[in-house]
Amino acid sequence: MEIYSAEFKCSNTRTEKLPPPVLPEYAFIGRSNVGKSSLINALTNKKGLAKTSQTPGKTQLINHFLINNNWYLVDLPGYGYARVSQKMREEWERFIRYYLRNRENLQCVFVLVDSRIEPQKADLDFCFWLGENGIPFVIAFTKADKQSKVKTLQNVKSFKDALLKYFEELPQMFITSSETREGREDLLSFIDEVNSRFEKPVS
Ligand code: GTP
Ligand code: MG
Repeated sequence: MEIYSAEFKCSNTRTEKLPPPVLPEYAFIGRSNVGKSSLINALTNKKGLAKTSQTPGKTQLINHFLINNNWYLVDLPGYGYARVSQKMREEWERFIRYYLRNRENLQCVFVLVDSRIEPQKADLDFCFWLGENGIPFVIAFTKADKQSKVKTLQNVKSFKDALLKYFEELPQMFITSSETREGREDLLSFIDEVNSRFEKPVS
């Protein structure tokens, strides 16, 4: 799929203020600093569209980006960010979980997982929660440029093994790098395919 337009639409803390649920929507989630905003910029070929930072906790709102005037990419705050208060963390979590469970045009959640490290409990728990709630998701391993292919594949295998203790079938997985654009075409083809099956709600 070619990306010919990508524009910031809105930032929200309230689910009532989100754009009307009439276009297919894809949400990016994952631990703080995993590379969610960077991957959105790499997919859209627009540096600076989603704000990135070396400091975890940069994205703090639900951000909607309209792509090709036809579908939404959503940048979410990272989970597991330690430097905010427990109360704030719980509030975010409640809000994000509410959004994920109730957003009717949400087609698929992209769970971003750092390809450099062993499976993390926070990531696995989040996948299990999505599974329990019947929310469709895929995994995108990030920052694959940072180590050898062998190391990446080892970590992917460990993650698969950990998921298989709980799931019978594995979700689709993508290996990506915002630096080298690895995985970009595959992700966009996946979205294109899901978009083609989207049925506009009758209003
Ligand atoms: P929060 O919004 O804080 O939760 O973070 P985020 O998940 O949106 O991460 P962000 O895209 O801001 O990236 C965090 C840091 O990792 C930045 O310094 C990025 O430049 C870097 N980074 C992200 N993706 C890649 C990648 O694929 N390769 C490399 N080498 N660095 C990356
Ligand atoms: Mg971010």
